[in-house]
Amino acid sequence: MGKKREEVETSHADGVYFGLMSGTSMDGVDGVAVQFATGKTPVVLGEAHISFSKDLRDALFALQAPGDNELEREALAANSLATRYAICCHELQSMSGCSATKVRAIGVHGQTVRHRPEKGYTRQINNPAMLAEMTNIDVIADFRSRDVAAGGQGAPLVPAFHATMFGAPKETRVVCNLGGISNITILSASGAVRGFDCGPANALIDEWALRHLQRAYDDGGQFAAQGTVNQPLLNALLDEPFFSEAPPKSTGRDLFNPMWMDAKLAAFPGLPPADVQATLTALTATTVAREIERHASDARAVYVCGGGARNPVLLRMLQKALENSGVSGVPVMTTDALGVPPQQVEAFAFAWLAMRCVAREPGNLASVTGAAGERVLGAIYPR
Ligand SMILES: Nc1ncnc2c1ncn2[C@@H]1O[C@H](COP(=O)(O)OP(=O)(O)O)[C@@H](O)[C@H]1O
Ligand SMILES: [Mg+2]
Repeated sequence: MGKKREEVETSHADGVYFGLMSGTSMDGVDGVAVQFATGKTPVVLGEAHISFSKDLRDALFALQAPGDNELEREALAANSLATRYAICCHELQSMSGCSATKVRAIGVHGQTVRHRPEKGYTRQINNPAMLAEMTNIDVIADFRSRDVAAGGQGAPLVPAFHATMFGAPKETRVVCNLGGISNITILSASGAVRGFDCGPANALIDEWALRHLQRAYDDGGQFAAQGTVNQPLLNALLDEPFFSEAPPKSTGRDLFNPMWMDAKLAAFPGLPPADVQATLTALTATTVAREIERHASDARAVYVCGGGARNPVLLRMLQKALENSGVSGVPVMTTDALGVPPQQVEAFAFAWLAMRCVAREPGNLASVTGAAGERVLGAIYPR
C-alpha cells in the first residue's frame, strides 16, 4: 500500500522560515523569509538587510586574530550580533506579514571568527538563546560544527541548496558566490555536485577601498576601473599554495587578511592605488576562472550571487578570464537569471538548512565537504 496522497505531498517541516546570513565581508546581515511546501518551488515572502555599526565591525575584525580577553569580547560581540539579527527578523516579520507563531524557525549562520577544520573546529559566534528570547521563534544555529565533527571542511554548505534550486538535468552549471571569500558550486550534467572556496573576493577589495577611498567597498568597481592590472603583482598574489590545492578546501580571513595582502604588496612599493585595486579584483576573477577551468570545463553558464554581483568590473574580468582559459563562450550572469536575486541566495540557503534540520534531513554533501557522510546540521534553541 502506498501512502495517502496528502502524506506524500506535505512534510511536517513545511512552512515559513527565516534565513539569516552574515558573511566574511562583515558588512551586515542579509535576511529572507521563505515559504517551503513539499513539491513546490519555495517562495520568498520578504527580504531585509541590517548593517553592522562601526563598533560591531571593529569588534568582529579584532576577533579574527588571537588577543587578550577573547572570551568576553566574543560573548559581548555575540550579544550585539544577536540584537542585529533580531532587528532583521522583526523587519522580515513586517515584510512577510508573518507573526512569530507562523514562523517555523530561524536559520542563522552566525559570524565566523575562526575556521580551522584541520584542527577539528570552526567558530561562528552568535547568541541563539538570546535571539530565541527576543523573537519568540525557534532558532537553529551552528550548522558547520557537525560536518567538521564528521571529518568535513564544514564549508561550503550552500551547494546542497544550490543543487535543489539551480540544478538542471544534462547541463553543467556553476554557481559562484562572491562574498568576502569566493566559492563555487559545480552542478554537473551527471547530477554530481562539488563545491569549494576559491580564494579572496571582497575581503581584500573592501580593505583596499577603505584605505584609499575611506569607503566600505569599491562601489560598482569604479576605483578598479580607473587602474590597470599589474601582472607581476597578480603573479605574486597567485603564488599562494591554497590556489593550487585540490578540493575539498575552504578558507577565510584566517589566511586572506590584510597581513597576507601587505606581505605581498611589500615587494611592489609605489604602485598607484587604483592599479592595486584593479589587480585585487583580477585576483578574484582569475582564481575563480582557474577553478572553473580545472573542474567544470563543460560548464554552460556561470551564475553569480553575493555582493560581488554588484561589481560589474569584477564580472567583466571574470568573463574575460574565462575567455582566456579553456572555457570560452560560457556566459557570466547573475542568479537573477534563475529567479533568485543575488543578494538573497545565501540567506535563502540558511532558511533551507533550517527546514532540513526540522525535517531531520541532511544539509551537507559529503562530496563537497569531505565529511564521512551526510548529517543533519544545526543546533535547535526552542522559542
Ligand atoms: N554596489 C556595490 N559595488 C561593489 N561591491 C559591492 C556593492 N554592494 C555590495 N558590494 C560588495 O559585497 C560585499 C557584501 O557581500 P555579501 O554577499 O554580503 O558578502 P558576505 O556574505 O561575505 O557578507 C560588500 O562588502 C561589498 O564588497
Ligand atoms: Mg554580507
